[in-house]
Amino acid sequence: MTDVASRGSGPDDSRDGLTTRQGHPVYDNQNQRTVGARGPATLENYHFLEKISHFDRERIPERVVHARGVTAFGHFEAYGKWGDEPIDRFTRAKLFQEAGKRTDVALRFSTVIGGRDSSEAARDPRGFAVKFYTEDGNWDLVGNNLGVFFIRDAVKFSDVIHALKPDPVDFEQKPNRIFDFMSQTPESMHMLVNLFSPRGIPADYRHMQGFGVNTYKWVNEAGQSVLVKYHWMPKLGVRSMTEEDAANVQAGGLGHATKDLYAAIGAGDFPEWELLVQMMSDDEHPELDFDPLDDTKLWPENEFPPRPVGRLVLDRMPENFFAENEQIAFGTGVLVDGLDFSDDKMLIGRTFSYSDTQRYRVGPNYLQLPVNQARNAPVRTNQRDGQMAFHQDLAGQNPHVNYEPSITGGLREAQYPSHDEQGPVITGRLTRKRIPRTNDYVQAGQRYLLMEQWERDDLVKNFVDLLAQCDRPIQERMVWHFLLVENELGLRVGEGLKISPEDVRGLRPLNGQTLTDEDRERLAHLG
Ligand code: HEM
Repeated sequence: MTDVASRGSGPDDSRDGLTTRQGHPVYDNQNQRTVGARGPATLENYHFLEKISHFDRERIPERVVHARGVTAFGHFEAYGKWGDEPIDRFTRAKLFQEAGKRTDVALRFSTVIGGRDSSEAARDPRGFAVKFYTEDGNWDLVGNNLGVFFIRDAVKFSDVIHALKPDPVDFEQKPNRIFDFMSQTPESMHMLVNLFSPRGIPADYRHMQGFGVNTYKWVNEAGQSVLVKYHWMPKLGVRSMTEEDAANVQAGGLGHATKDLYAAIGAGDFPEWELLVQMMSDDEHPELDFDPLDDTKLWPENEFPPRPVGRLVLDRMPENFFAENEQIAFGTGVLVDGLDFSDDKMLIGRTFSYSDTQRYRVGPNYLQLPVNQARNAPVRTNQRDGQMAFHQDLAGQNPHVNYEPSITGGLREAQYPSHDEQGPVITGRLTRKRIPRTNDYVQAGQRYLLMEQWERDDLVKNFVDLLAQCDRPIQERMVWHFLLVENELGLRVGEGLKISPEDVRGLRPLNGQTLTDEDRERLAHLG
């Protein structure tokens, strides 16, 4: 018998009654079923067992990177042009063609290294992942707020992330581990000069750029391709924080950027970004001092001007954080007709990794979840069953036929496009080699020289503070790199660590490192 007094039932009998997931009414949600008021409990307490065992499974694995984030929804509006030129000269992707054409989008912002509940004021790249729900299926543009990355080959991704994550023994994030790895990874210098400047702590998500970082392709109706890089520019401008600003913000709570986004969108103050695209012909560009497929490099804007192609507006926050933020799944393999991969060695690794982790993290049927479904395109597959399959994808006329080919009414292959063959013919020997034009320092140096004085001061201070906690050989190697990046940076960081150019003069280039003539010239003048 239910103890009515303990049920807390009030006069509001109009509210809906609680049930189990089986649809059975729950008459008592306060007391288990027991033999007598003092127990013992019985094992057939279906309601209790369902409730507690579901709770026991409430968490799914958090993302291995970018665990802390927030999603918002809105639309992308195309300009129908790349700058002043008709866009169909370069891509046949439908979402870009007509001026004013709108496509639904989801955008997830994130930090990279911390866990699900970590601080949003951390010095860390910020994720900027956009899902376009187009009529040709989904397109994901999975980017970051900094235009370059630490490494250029996907085989090094787990190493760079392990170095940045907490120590596996005592779970502390340690400068010594981070700079141990970076000091042996000269291609990381460009990223480090950005990350440890004020740009490394964006003020919030609304005042932040986004970059596709990797190189992609656009393909037109005739099958001709060009290389492209994507840039998102916030209408509100870019704002960043110093280490001190960030410490103050963090003292007030760990989730200021998510809060800021909810508040702005809730107040009807919808944030907006413009999408700009840089373009170059689809070849190796031997005239450049970098490889266009190297994601540690920017494409100089005077030679490859970013031109606007559309704008994105966010106007809705998730109705349920778990369903729409924890379970949303982006990937670099998710492209639509008219957009394509390049041979960028990071991109291929990323393209495997995203859906691989999502099949583990969310489950094999993650693409059936409403937030991930290609909601504006028909999805017809013969993929069936598996954990948590909650509907069957559209089948052909004959539901018995879940295979292809068939003459009895199943799905058939889509009409083969006339423009399938595209891009240059590539031949080569199977090998494991660095790209020839590594040129690890010059753009990092240019970035340093473009900084205002206060930004340089902040960068030097951040490097000195962290490197002061590192072993001497790591400090020396970092000063050596910084002298190659830009003399002033090397001298100033060295001064802070009491390491002079003479102290590092004897260091040899790293194993396999390629130096330019300019790098060698600089080394010859050390001390
Ligand atoms: C998330 C792998 C490089 C941007 C992730 C996730 C993995 C991953 C496994 C978790 C995905 C999930 O659980 O849903 C890799 C690998 C990389 C790489 C293997 C290099 C080889 C990059 C780069 C960028 C980037 C260069 C920036 C352009 C992101 C973003 C997310 C993410 C924004 C979060 C997506 C979300 O909000 O759900 N990455 N990543 N990643 N990655 Fe990467």
